[in-house]
Amino acid sequence: AESLEDLLQRLCAVVPDYPEPGVTFRDLTPVFADGAALRQVVDALIEPFAGQFDAVAGVEARGFLLAAAAGYASGTGVITVRKAGKLPRAVYHEEYQLEYGSAALELHRDELPEGSRVLILDDVLATGGTLAAASKLFADARVEVVGYGVVLELVQLHGRAALAGHRVRSLLRLS
Ligand code: PRP
Ligand code: MG
Repeated sequence: AESLEDLLQRLCAVVPDYPEPGVTFRDLTPVFADGAALRQVVDALIEPFAGQFDAVAGVEARGFLLAAAAGYASGTGVITVRKAGKLPRAVYHEEYQLEYGSAALELHRDELPEGSRVLILDDVLATGGTLAAASKLFADARVEVVGYGVVLELVQLHGRAALAGHRVRSLLRLS
């Protein structure tokens, strides 16, 4: 049978010169669109952390797809880490750097009890700035991050180094 890595390699669409000339974009929408692939991805992301988390967090926007499925599969709740300005009540706020400029993520202050354990999911690990910012939000909330799960890791951007100290599960590693 085809390995999960081979399945992902086959389904991941490679888009040259997007979003700008010289950049090669890896598009995971065909993975999400494939029922068998989606189920295998979600199961593989939660498997190393089974029994170790009380909630699954997804990072807006693409991480939401994975977190919702993982929360359902594991019987835990889902936490939304959102782009700044989207959550209506009191939040923790963390800025992070993008290639040009900065952005910010937010988490509701009362979303999880202190001392609870969260697994953070996103689609892609590139520089790690996004997941590092998400991690800081949970540190602010005194919630333990048990690890990270991503479908695709772009290894040349050394995102893992930005997440030192936490376990990272990635299903496909590309340069
Ligand atoms: C993309 C991707 C990851 C992040 C990875 O999200 O979905 O969340 O970038 O990059 P990093 O490791 O360098 O931080 P994007 O900010 O484009 O937003 P989206 O998910 O809302 O499309
Ligand atoms: Mg994203």
